[in-house]
Amino acid sequence: MATPAADLTAAASALTLTPEQEAAVAARFRAAMVAGLAGRPSPLKMLSSHLALPGGDERGLYLAIDFGGSNVRVQLVELLGGGKWLVRRQSAAPLKDPAGAYDYTVAAATGEQLFDFLAARIAPLVDDGRDYLLGHTFSFPCTQLDAGRAVLISWTKEISTAGVEGREVNALLAAALARRGLARIRPVAVINDTVGTLLAAAYRDPSADIAAICGTGHNTCYYDAARGTIINMESGNFDALPVTPWDDALDAASEHPGAQRLEKMAAGRYLGEIARLVLAAEGAPTDPPYSLATADLAAWLADGDGPRRRLAALIAERSARLVAATFRGVLAHIDPGGKKKHTIAIDGTLYEKMPGYAGTMAAALGSAPVLAKDGSGVGAAIAAALAASRR
Ligand code: GLC
Repeated sequence: MATPAADLTAAASALTLTPEQEAAVAARFRAAMVAGLAGRPSPLKMLSSHLALPGGDERGLYLAIDFGGSNVRVQLVELLGGGKWLVRRQSAAPLKDPAGAYDYTVAAATGEQLFDFLAARIAPLVDDGRDYLLGHTFSFPCTQLDAGRAVLISWTKEISTAGVEGREVNALLAAALARRGLARIRPVAVINDTVGTLLAAAYRDPSADIAAICGTGHNTCYYDAARGTIINMESGNFDALPVTPWDDALDAASEHPGAQRLEKMAAGRYLGEIARLVLAAEGAPTDPPYSLATADLAAWLADGDGPRRRLAALIAERSARLVAATFRGVLAHIDPGGKKKHTIAIDGTLYEKMPGYAGTMAAALGSAPVLAKDGSGVGAAIAAALAASRR
């Protein structure tokens, strides 16, 4: 990795948000929520999950799949009521084999192959002769027909597996389970990971009504009390933002130019690449695209040399401040008078591991979000319980 030129003056001014810019992001985000809810053109898809918040006393044994884009995790979760649960069995596997044996995330792979891989992961978790209800956390924008049926609108996070867009994901999963002789497993719920995180947080904490993922991707959902449902905003697609030339270059070279502009400025999948583009513009010898990972930025922040640490801090801080501004937009929409207590639950490696990230966000918000680790697995179980109780 090349040594960055010591002068990051231009980068610093382009990557540092002014309070006015942050306030504008919050106000525009709120306006985009209103437009999206009213069915007017909006960068926010405002997708209903058809699920309300849990009461905390949902019980039972459920299978859960957490399909996020880099890994798939399968769990057997027991909901105990009283806001408690136990993960009885679990395993995880990458969707792209580090040794190169397989990659289910590229256009050369098919949906059938991908879901067969998922079904194969579930098989060791189940006992013969037992029926199971399954909740599926599928972390991509979906049109939700009901709590159990969701159609993938388009892949995000640079995934391009063939034959999944436009399809009902739980139908693909059920077909794969049947091919594997696992038809006794019934997928009854499909949710976004933000929704899973909110369900898991609200299972324990009645004031939880906003949840976000700050990981490989970025997105936020909230409980819309007026509509009685959790809404997945797909906020990674928000685009009324103060962008830099590096953001435009990253976007132009991505799988879906123009889409997911906030995600491309704020999520772990992209922060390393922003740094690489800044360094290239500063005259550093060019490394291949995506050769810098967000984990490298975290390492620079922890103990890098001066310019590297400075660049990592600029990029991470911008991400945290942009996301905090969108939260302010959500809060202004759901509670204009600021009368209620709101717990914002956040999951994701960026929030958890990037030095200073959570602190910056807390400072920008004036209160600290809670880290809600691994909520999407448990959230899938809660979603299955909620969906099953309606049948
Ligand atoms: C991407 C997906 C979104 C998901 C987020 C976090 O933004 O489109 O559905 O919630 O990543 O995984």
